[in-house]
Amino acid sequence: MDMFEYRNKTLLCEKVKVEDIISDVGTPAYVYSKNSIVTQYHALETAFRAVDTLICFSVKSNSNLSICKLLAGEGSGFDVVSGGELFRAIRAGGDPSKIVFAGVGKTYQELRYALENDIFMFNVESLAELERINTLAGETGKIPKVALRINPDIDAKTHAKTTTGKKENKFGIDFTEAERIIKQSMMYPSIDLCGLHVHLGSPIYTVDPYVHALKKIVTLINKCRDAGLDIRYMNIGGGYCISYTGENVIQPQDYASQILPLVKEMQCNLIMEPGRFIMGNSGILITRVIYTKETPHGKKFVICDAAMNDLVRPALYDAFHRIWPVNTNIKMPKVENPDKPVTKKGIGLVDIVGPVCESSDVFATKRALPSVREGDLLAIYSAGAYGFSMSSNYNSRPRPCEVLVDGDQYHVIRERETYEDLVRGENFV
Ligand code: LLP
Repeated sequence: MDMFEYRNKTLLCEKVKVEDIISDVGTPAYVYSKNSIVTQYHALETAFRAVDTLICFSVKSNSNLSICKLLAGEGSGFDVVSGGELFRAIRAGGDPSKIVFAGVGKTYQELRYALENDIFMFNVESLAELERINTLAGETGKIPKVALRINPDIDAKTHAKTTTGKKENKFGIDFTEAERIIKQSMMYPSIDLCGLHVHLGSPIYTVDPYVHALKKIVTLINKCRDAGLDIRYMNIGGGYCISYTGENVIQPQDYASQILPLVKEMQCNLIMEPGRFIMGNSGILITRVIYTKETPHGKKFVICDAAMNDLVRPALYDAFHRIWPVNTNIKMPKVENPDKPVTKKGIGLVDIVGPVCESSDVFATKRALPSVREGDLLAIYSAGAYGFSMSSNYNSRPRPCEVLVDGDQYHVIRERETYEDLVRGENFV
């Protein structure tokens, strides 16, 4: 079900014309579909229903309060990686008893904050962290649940900058160290060591890395149980892919059909931490063409008012995002091959760029795009995850507003920043 569709040559989000939203809120603007978010959440929930599963939405993918509130209302827990994300999840109405906390560098302050709020589980990434939690918990008399995050040394074949489960990555604990910790677990009386956690990278386009990791971990679970530990939770992290190009990709049931039998064999409850799968294709970034420019060397630039500070994925990971005019009588192709752009009458090859003073401020190079003029609106697709949440104020650019569409209604869920917002907190000396 696609919540972003063209009708009568104009793009709709659910039942609202995107151009109507934009005449109200301006550009650049993130526009999200509530229906899409809820549908994606329940697609995962349904696929994994056969075992007791807790879905913890990965707050880093989109941390807007209204988005978190919406998902909390659907029953979601949260995966957080900082005190700030924990604050957001709680502020949005998230149930602390469904919050898991990962990250290699949790500070004293963050650990205390999480303990005070009785979160569900700490995903622990080093012996030093385990010792620190044991000490802090001992002071409070609490016995928090802990999962060891295992680094299974598996290549999930993602972009080098988003792979996390290889031995050279900073994340998790390798098997030898994990076995040592398990053998000495009686040294940590203030901890309930009851789970194992992996997160392999993102996005992962096959089930194989999950299967491979779980097969390696089954042996470790047996060793835990032999050592007297009551292991009850297997957290398989996030990484579930979405289609950025329109091509078919694997679906929740494809993941579930291979992952569930292994989790059943482990006799564990399942925890998963999806971010991109829920939000990625639930949001678009709308930008306006400021100028077009043609060089004597035959380069054609479309210069728009969104930039790498608003959506950094193309600049950071060479990520492909589909881009098409909001108003056009030319149909967006069903599938795009990033390496083979198709041009025809009315469609030329252009570079779509932002105004930031960096050569990497490019959304697309040699991209097939219907001809556009100053003032036209462009939609940048698949921008709901790791879009706004990775935005910055670089070049002193106020960040865009965020809009949530619900049927024929829409709401501004984050105001556009102002110049005053840019200097808030700064002092003259
Ligand atoms: N759990 C942990 C421990 C994670 O580190 C992540 C993402 C997730 C869950 C959620 O992964 P997802 O389901 O969204 O794939 N900025 C990059 C992605 C970085 C992902 C970092 N960790 C991007 O824009 O592609």
